[in-house]
Amino acid sequence: MQVNIPLIQTIDNSYDISIDAISTTHFDRKVAIVTNPKVAGLHLGYLLSKISAKELYIITVPDGEEYKNQDSVNLILESLFNHRFNRNSMLIAFGGGVIGDMTGYVASVYQRGIDFVQIPTTLLSQVDASVGGKTGMNNSYGKNLVGAFHQPKSVLIDPLFLSTLPPREFGAGVAEIVKMAVTFNKEFFSFLESADLSDAKVLQEAIKRAVQTKADVVAQDEKEHGLRAALNYGHTFGHVIENETKYKKYLHGEAVAIGMVMANETAVKMNLMSKDEALRVKNLLEKYNLPTSYKIENPSSFYETFFLDKKSSDSSVTFIIPVGIGGVKITDEIDEKLILSVLDGF
Ligand code: NAD
Ligand code: GLY
Repeated sequence: MQVNIPLIQTIDNSYDISIDAISTTHFDRKVAIVTNPKVAGLHLGYLLSKISAKELYIITVPDGEEYKNQDSVNLILESLFNHRFNRNSMLIAFGGGVIGDMTGYVASVYQRGIDFVQIPTTLLSQVDASVGGKTGMNNSYGKNLVGAFHQPKSVLIDPLFLSTLPPREFGAGVAEIVKMAVTFNKEFFSFLESADLSDAKVLQEAIKRAVQTKADVVAQDEKEHGLRAALNYGHTFGHVIENETKYKKYLHGEAVAIGMVMANETAVKMNLMSKDEALRVKNLLEKYNLPTSYKIENPSSFYETFFLDKKSSDSSVTFIIPVGIGGVKITDEIDEKLILSVLDGF
């Protein structure tokens, strides 16, 4: 016997992303700002001069990827229960991607889902992590293996926060911007080649274009059944580099930068990208002091590590290969020999 539940998809999940100084806003509901001590010390005063609520609480969790875990999630949940948050209450994620991912995850599970707003404070979270509704945390099996798709109610991107960002963190964000341009937007790539991102207006324009690119992709494939996987360009190789260097030597965006160079070399060998295009991408990454080389000691072991990613199916690895600049191919059908010959070159 079968019973069918004819779900009617009438819920409008669309939301606005503002890229400008945060405007003064009052929320007529219970709100908790989730942040960490570093971001709070630098910018909470400014945020509180802009945002008010019927009841406003601040929840701080320790800073760092190693705290993007169940303990921090429990800490946030407990605070919400203690303050008797209800289904009409709201969370604000105030920090980088770590805070954004965890706050979004808590919002997705607290009383089966409450609203949240993203106020990202790193470049990486402004151009990538805050947009698109991927939320999650890490556990002993790997990164981002527990999570949910839960879209924010809005995203408030205020470039002013970036004034305190260390240069390496800024570069890591640039890597994700380059990722969007290479895979989806040739004209944006040319813009970046001649842009000076230390100019506030130019940076705001670059953030806008990156966010628009990501928003277009997410609108077509919210739950990553296909196209959205292209946003993992550079990540397949980058994850192995992070793994081999025990997540200590490179920031995520830096590993992705090297990973993009490796993906480009693969594309050149497949005649999908010219050597000149690969060089242009490398030059752009180097303009922002991103690493573009990595000594692979053992190509076979590097290759095997692709399969340790718990999100890979047992027997295949998905590669995101650029097609020139502005195009992309998602494939799990690249011959091992070809990949090994690419890895041999590093
Ligand atoms: P992060 O959140 O750890 O921030 C990096 C460091 O910068 C931290 O120490 C943070 O406290 C500090 N910081 C934040 N804002 C600052 C500011 N304005 N000035 C000075 N310091 C500041 O790292 P991240 O690079 O922002 O994000 C990485 C995380 O994002 C990873 O966990 C990754 O999995 C996740 N991510 C998620 C998505 C998604 O779609 N959900 C996409 C990409 C990355
Ligand atoms: N950062 C990849 C994605 O949001 O899909």
